[in-house]
This record gives sequence, C-alpha cells and structure tokens, in this order.
Amino acid sequence: MTKNTFLLNGKTVEFQPGQTILQAAADNAVTIPTLCHLKGSTPTGACRICLVEAAGSRTLVAACSTPVTPGMEVKTDTERVHAARKLNVELLLSHGKHDCLLCEVSGDCRLQDLAYAYQVSGDRFERDLSAYQKEDSNPFIIRDFNRCILCGRCVQACNEVAVNRAISQGYRGAKSKIVTGGDAPYHQFSESECVFCGQCVEVCPVGALTEKKARGMARTWQAEKIRTTCPYCGVGCQQWLHVKDDKIFKVTAVEDAQPNQGRLCVKGRFGYDFIYSEDRLKTPLIREKDGFREASWDEALDLVAARFREILAKHGPNAVAGVSCARSINEDSYQMQKLFRAVFKSNNIDHCART
Ligand code: SF4
Ligand code: SF4
Ligand code: SF4
Ligand code: FES
Repeated sequence: MTKNTFLLNGKTVEFQPGQTILQAAADNAVTIPTLCHLKGSTPTGACRICLVEAAGSRTLVAACSTPVTPGMEVKTDTERVHAARKLNVELLLSHGKHDCLLCEVSGDCRLQDLAYAYQVSGDRFERDLSAYQKEDSNPFIIRDFNRCILCGRCVQACNEVAVNRAISQGYRGAKSKIVTGGDAPYHQFSESECVFCGQCVEVCPVGALTEKKARGMARTWQAEKIRTTCPYCGVGCQQWLHVKDDKIFKVTAVEDAQPNQGRLCVKGRFGYDFIYSEDRLKTPLIREKDGFREASWDEALDLVAARFREILAKHGPNAVAGVSCARSINEDSYQMQKLFRAVFKSNNIDHCART
C-alpha cells in the first residue's frame, strides 16, 4: 500500500488521511504553537499563532485548520513564520489589560509563554484600554474580559465538549466579547443557560476565566497536583486536586483519561468544600434516648448486624430493604445487592439514582 507522505521542514514524513498540518507535525515530533486550537472540536483558526509556510500558498496558512495533502511542502520554522507569529502575539497583547503581576494564571498562561518566547511586551502598539466590568457575581467563576484574547476556546468547550450551548461570540469589532444569551451574567438563569460545569474555565488559555475560590490561594508553581477519582457519583471522573499547605484550592479534570476525558460537572469541579465542613460526620453516631452519641465502627456495625438479624428472625426477609448510594462505586453497589439477595434473601434492593 502506498504511504501518504509530505515534506515537513525538508524531511519526507508520513501522515494519516484527514489529518491537519498540526496533527501530522505533532506525530512527527514537530511542535507548532497554538492558542485557539482545542483538541476534539472544530478548528476556528481564530488566533493565527499556528501559522506555517505551505509551498504554493501566497499567504501563510493556519496549521490547526489546514489539511495535509500528499506531496505538500510545509515549513514551520522560518523567519517569515516567526515574524508573523510574533506580530500576532504583539497584537493580542495590545488588546486588553495584561497585568501579569496580578493575574491568577501567571506562570501557566499560553500568551505569557508566547510573549516570553518571542520576547515581546505588548508596548509596540497603542493599547485598547476600554475596560470591561469584571463579572464575579456568581459563586464559582470570575470572568475578566480585559484579559480575553477572543480565542473562542471557551465557546468551543461549552458548545462542543460539554454541549451546554450557553455562550457564543457577541458584538462586533473592538466591542467583541464572549456572551451568554442576552449577555447576562452566568448565574442569571432566566437568560443564561450556564450550568457552571466550568469547562470554559478549564480551557481558557489565559486569565480571562478563573475559579473564584482559587483566587489568591497559590501561584501555579506552588501547587501540588494529586490525581484522584471524584467522590460524588459512580461515574468516577478523573480529577487533579490542586493542593497547597495540605488544602485543596482548585479541582481540574484529567485530560485524555476515561471516563470523563477532560470534563467535570459542577459538583466535581466546584463542590469540594464539604471536606472541610465542621458539620462533616467523622465517626458513626448511635441514636439513644438523649440524641446521638459517637461510636466506633466496630460498635456501629455490630449493632446494625444484630438489628438486621433480629428483624429477619422476627418478620422475615420482606421486612428489610436497602437503597444503595449513588456516590458509591459500582463495586460497592454490587456488594450491597449481593448482601440483600444472597444473605438476607430479599429482593428489596434499589439505588437512589434510579428513582
Ligand atoms: S492572561 Fe496571561 S498575559 Fe494576560 S495578564 Fe494573565 S498571565 Fe499575563
Ligand atoms: S460553565 Fe459550563 S455551561 Fe457555563 S459557560 Fe462555561 S462551559 Fe458553558
Ligand atoms: S474567555 Fe478565555 S477561552 Fe474564552 S475567548 Fe476569551 S481568552 Fe479565549
Ligand atoms: S491555533 Fe491555529 S489559528 Fe489558533
């Protein structure tokens, strides 16, 4: 079978039919910088950071949205390419207010990385200082459109990854902005379809969308990242806990991991505070006349077993019923139904998520 090949930086390399230049280059260990590209969603070609030379094309082409064709000649590392990328970084920096000192994502910002790589500060062009009001009236997400570079990744993530279709590109020209329906705040449910999954925050390459609860908690390089499984339901989404001084201050999704593939819901992403609640039960409680008293696990389990035995002996298997918890893993729910069916001889077993 003839292999599909093209010329990448003077070297003949293979590609898969349908691949973009960006994908084929990555498979051949050639990195092309990107800003707006979001893996798994339709390329928008919005940022023009991935520009490359393609023989026969009068202009530079966007690697993220241009398919490779057999025999194509592509150059990713020429003076012309770097001059164009550098100019685009300068233009992005000139729009809005990029005060990295106070920015939550400083040290983990693609625009900052590109500015460093091309050694540009954003002073070359007159800055557009028309300020947007920072929106932080909801409990989870701060939207600071003064730092937005209109890459559109949040829109792609909301529409194509989380499929909530809550935001889109709004207005025109210098007034362009990412908007909810009616340009309402995220939490204004009458207008906004936002469910606070935070997928837009996860993919924003700059500091325009950030987690409210993480504000001022830690610089990215101060955080320890611990991989875990979300405790909220049986789906078992894979998460990174961002921890500083033994305290979780942010949760993000593990990209490319099953079953969530980089997604989280509002509970998994923002609902971690319960861990630190003073009201959280830390030991079993046994009800007595005057209320509850703390007990050991052994004592509590012995009491439950004794009461089950008593009820079964007196009233038979139909007198007991169990509802397994949706926060349990599948294996635990399996064990619970096994306990009821095989040990108690009762089919009165259900799961709270079914009702
Ligand atoms: S978004 Fe990036 S470039 Fe802009 S202020 Fe924040 S760290 Fe700096
Ligand atoms: S939080 Fe989720 S639903 Fe709301 S705008 Fe962001 S991606 Fe869309
Ligand atoms: S908010 Fe972030 S992800 Fe959305 S367009 Fe602006 S910079 Fe891009
Ligand atoms: S990454 Fe290709 S145009 Fe933005």
